[in-house]
Amino acid sequence: MVGDLAGFVAATYLRGIPFVQAPTTLLGQVDSSVGGKVGVNLKAGKNLVGAFHQPKLVLCDVDALRTLPRREFRSGLAEVIKYGIIYDGELFARLEQDMEALLRGEPKILAEVIARCCEIKAEVVAQDETESGLRAILNFGHSIGHALEAVAGYGKYLHGEAISIGQVKAADLSARVLGLAAGEVQRIQRLFEQAGLPTQLKAGLPLRKKLVQAMKVDKKVSRGEVKFVLAQKIGQVQFGCTVPETMIQEVLSI
Ligand SMILES: NC(=O)c1ccc[n+]([C@@H]2O[C@H](COP(=O)([O-])OP(=O)(O)OC[C@H]3O[C@@H](n4cnc5c(N)ncnc54)[C@H](O)[C@@H]3O)[C@@H](O)[C@H]2O)c1
Ligand SMILES: [Zn+2]
Repeated sequence: MVGDLAGFVAATYLRGIPFVQAPTTLLGQVDSSVGGKVGVNLKAGKNLVGAFHQPKLVLCDVDALRTLPRREFRSGLAEVIKYGIIYDGELFARLEQDMEALLRGEPKILAEVIARCCEIKAEVVAQDETESGLRAILNFGHSIGHALEAVAGYGKYLHGEAISIGQVKAADLSARVLGLAAGEVQRIQRLFEQAGLPTQLKAGLPLRKKLVQAMKVDKKVSRGEVKFVLAQKIGQVQFGCTVPETMIQEVLSI
């Protein structure tokens, strides 16, 4: 939160001054500090005021994570796992091996994994700085995740918890739409569980309706259709996928 606010001030003060990010949360280190998006919320909605402003340096000190509340740490892991699913099957397999060590806070493993995540985000953003195409893959699990955060009222779910459920649901949709193998869907669900994150929703009809409604007002919508990022296999995704509403309803009920 501090990084976004400071970054936004740096982007606008004197029409922009150089700045450095020194994130102290796992989510900050692997996601929000890299890529140049800086913004603040308005009462009317999340991130309605913002800019693109690249930091001169991102300094991730893994020692800072030692005091981070466990729940916040696990929440950051949801973004870490995301990079494996969208871009790097080897990273995903490594996370399956090393999840216990990560949860224990092993500095060497943490540093390597965080560095790889930053590398992936930087590579994706370098190819598409202003989100006209490829950058959309970073939103894997976020259509449902954002809807869940909005409908539950901000504060119930941490972002990582909401997108953990969102990614498991997106994996289920991927199986139905792109033929993602059942074994891979299971591996995805298992890894989020290993990280201690929620993966189930079991939404009744009223909640399902609210979630679909919330997805339609989210910004990833074109001509009234929600666009999903879906996986063909672990490590490779496709953006701009349309999914029938009945199918969305179905996966939300599980
Ligand atoms: N700009 C982007 O590209 C981007 C991407 C993702 C998220 N975000 C934004 O990031 C924000 C969420 O960031 P976050 O998850 O880092 O949460 P946060 O900044 O809200 O921090 C979570 C909590 O941890 C505490 N904390 C932070 N570092 C600590 C440490 N080392 N030890 C102990 N406590 C510590 C904070 O005081 C706070 O209570 C949201 O505002 C979201 O919109 C931006
Ligand atoms: Zn996110």
